Amino acid sequence: MSSVIKKIILNGSERMVDAPEDMRLLDVLRQRLSLTGTKEGCGEGECGACSVLLNGEAVNSCLVLWGQLSDGAILTTVEGLGSASHLSPLQECFVKEGGVQCGMCTPGMLVSAEALLMRNPKPARGEIVRAISGNLCRCTGYKRIISAVEECSKLKKGKR
Ligand code: FES
Ligand code: FES
Repeated sequence: MSSVIKKIILNGSERMVDAPEDMRLLDVLRQRLSLTGTKEGCGEGECGACSVLLNGEAVNSCLVLWGQLSDGAILTTVEGLGSASHLSPLQECFVKEGGVQCGMCTPGMLVSAEALLMRNPKPARGEIVRAISGNLCRCTGYKRIISAVEECSKLKKGKR
């Protein structure tokens, strides 16, 4: 299939990116743009490890083809949430609450939780559970992840 150049806003910066129309967004991010924070688990839309924010909504990047992306799409990957030297408030809460073990699910969890907190800054526990229901974690038993999102939601406005 042919290549197509698109303008995207990636983690806050405008980028022109050239990729084959049938390339998965996950592969464009990891292979073309070296943004390897986004993980591949199942590759079939079942695990949420590949979640990114597309125009403010969490999507499975393994299910989105480059050709499906509209020009000017706004993308945020885990690299856009914070960095090793400057963790986001949500990332700090994950660390404090012990919501990270092997880390495979963590980028996707952070993205799904961030999407929730953007549309609903004070979610009830059930809403947190629903928001991360598409993200599988084989290590933590979920409790600590849910607590991390709850703790972050308690932070005063401006602190997150
Ligand atoms: Fe995309 Fe599992 S790798 S949902
Ligand atoms: Fe290992 Fe979630 S921390 S899969």
